[in-house]
Order: sequence, then C-alpha cells, then structure tokens
Amino acid sequence: MRRPAAAAALLAGALAGTVLLTGCGGSASASGNDSGSDGKAKLSVSSPYMPRPVSDSMAAGFLTIVNKGDAEDELTSVTSDAAGSVTVHQTVGGTMREAGRLTVPAHGRLVFGSGGNHLMFDGLKHRPEQGQTVSVELHFAKSGDLRVEMPVKSATYNPATGH
Ligand code: CU
Repeated sequence: MRRPAAAAALLAGALAGTVLLTGCGGSASASGNDSGSDGKAKLSVSSPYMPRPVSDSMAAGFLTIVNKGDAEDELTSVTSDAAGSVTVHQTVGGTMREAGRLTVPAHGRLVFGSGGNHLMFDGLKHRPEQGQTVSVELHFAKSGDLRVEMPVKSATYNPATGH
C-alpha cells in the first residue's frame, strides 16, 4: 500500500515541479525588469588610437573601455582584420607581458594607455598611415563583441595634449 502511494506522490511532485519551473521562468524575468536595474554591463569605448607604427609588422593600440552598467565584464580577447594577431599586454616594471582576461568593473573603466595596458598588433597586413583607421573587435565574456574604429595618429601622439 505504501509503495503505490509513494509513487503517486513522486509523480505528483514531478508534475508540480514541471509546472512550477515554467511559472518560475516567466516571473523571474518580469521581476528582473521591475527592479529598475538589469544587472548587466553597459560598455562603450572612448578615445581609441594607434600611434603610427614604426615597424612594418607590429603596432600598439590604446583606448578606454567604460562600463556604465551594474555588473562587471571581462575583456577576453581582441581581433582585427588588419593584423595576424592582437594580444592584450600589461607593462609591469618596464617589461611587457600578456595580460590574459582583464576586468571592466561595474561603473568603472579599463584604461589602455602609454606605459600601461596596451593592445599589441602582430603581423600587420600593411603598415597603417596617419589619418587611416584600423578596425578592432573587442570580445567580452558577457556583453559579446564591440567593434572599434581606431584612428592612426602620429608616432609620438599624446592623448593628453591631442598632438
Ligand atoms: Cu606589448
């Protein structure tokens, strides 16, 4: 007598569970919208530039990634049609090393600047001239891809002065 009852309870529980899960999915997204913040990163890029490379094959790139959202995100990789590879570098104690994933904090920024973080372009298809732009795709863990047009400046360009 106990076994059929237990089976019936299990079956009822499984059915109820299914119904509950379905109902839950709907209300979860609704309450997410009601809270006023969607808990996501909101990324944009400001002041990108590439100093005109002094080498035929390698170049550096700089930019600032701004996050106006409530959640952090991670820059996972960078690609460009203009180069064979793009790596993210950190400068530590005067030497460069590959950075791996870099965090863009919630309501914060990730700065790439001369002497610090930078993008390293390797295997340039052609040497970019001042006044041209280089397209770069930033890949993020949660926000997907962000395409950036990076203007090529003079080799000694200083973003602080604009020269
Ligand atoms: Cu480097």
